[in-house]
Amino acid sequence: MGTVRADLVRADHLTPAEVSEVLALTRAAGDSDGAYPLSEHVMLHLRHGGDVPAVHLLARDGDQLVGYAHVDTTDAVEGASAELCVHPLFRRRGLGRALVMAAIGAADEHDPAHRLRLWAHGDHPSANALALSLGFERARVLWQMRRSLFAPVPAPELPPGVVLRPFRPGADEAAWLDLNARAFADHPDQGRWRAADLRIRLSEGWFDPDGFLLAERPAEGKLLGFHWTKVHGAIRHDHGDGSHDHDPIGEVYVLGVDPAAHGLGLGTALTLAGLRHLRDVGLDQVMLYVDESNPTAIALYQKLGFARWSTDVCFRRPGGRNQVAGDGSLSP
Ligand SMILES: CC(C)(COP(=O)(O)OP(=O)(O)OC[C@H]1O[C@@H](n2cnc3c(N)ncnc32)[C@H](O)[C@@H]1OP(=O)(O)O)[C@@H](O)C(=O)NCCC(=O)NCCS
Repeated sequence: MGTVRADLVRADHLTPAEVSEVLALTRAAGDSDGAYPLSEHVMLHLRHGGDVPAVHLLARDGDQLVGYAHVDTTDAVEGASAELCVHPLFRRRGLGRALVMAAIGAADEHDPAHRLRLWAHGDHPSANALALSLGFERARVLWQMRRSLFAPVPAPELPPGVVLRPFRPGADEAAWLDLNARAFADHPDQGRWRAADLRIRLSEGWFDPDGFLLAERPAEGKLLGFHWTKVHGAIRHDHGDGSHDHDPIGEVYVLGVDPAAHGLGLGTALTLAGLRHLRDVGLDQVMLYVDESNPTAIALYQKLGFARWSTDVCFRRPGGRNQVAGDGSLSP
């Protein structure tokens, strides 16, 4: 296919008309690909605004919006991240490449380390080919798994001497941070949480100590594992565009067991206890994110009735500039 003559416009805010165009574009892409190209987080941000700064990149062919990228430059720890899509009828003409190049430019303005993560929802060969052709590496594959809470949730069976209790703010922080570091020694994102990271989460509106369960051996005063659940409340807005927001849903937010206590059945018991809590607060569905490279956790969740719901792939730009074939321009 040939190239397309399109204009690429950059904006810090979208007008309501532009938001409608982006939503129509994502629907066209979603209908053709079987997976919507933007995350729920970005969709909510587009629809309801808020104070999250973002760079919007709009590719137009005449009046028609044919491509869009959303670049979030707010994460100082991980660097910028971008999500993008091209209208199904305008693909293989260089638009995707041009949007990624422009996203790299926007990210570079905020990050001297020149980092950028591209998130692709649905694991399409086209996203993989585009990202790899621009020198990105496939860094993470995240599964979202879901389970109905209408299906039976067996009672948890705890090893002898172990009890479950809610997290006690003001008392359990230090012991929990130690446990979290041990449980996630191989997962740097989660394992290196410090007191401030925990404090921020504990002060969030959704935090509920009864949904943050600790497994403890009181005789030794030792924490062995935890299951932190989260409730995502219902979000309902009238978009007037046929789309709908989500019903309330529970999340297995973080589940961790001290490696010294692996093999005792604590992962299963903690998961079941958390599911019972979410069911007791009236939810009928629960979701979680798990790394595809973590077969132990996936096996546990599958055994407990979770099934894969969707797949997200994160491509990471290795430190420094990419080796880019071509100049990324829209027209030759
Ligand atoms: C991925 C996506 C953005 C690509 O958009 P596009 O405009 O078709 O991409 P380009 O024309 O710029 O392609 C650039 C290069 O990517 C690769 N590529 C893109 N689509 C491909 C496909 N279907 N098969 C093989 N290679 C592909 C090729 O190397 C291509 O270069 P070439 O055409 O010279 O061979 C588009 O398919 C899309 O919107 N997919 C759904 C959303 C999504 O997955 N977004 C995440 C992107 S990381």
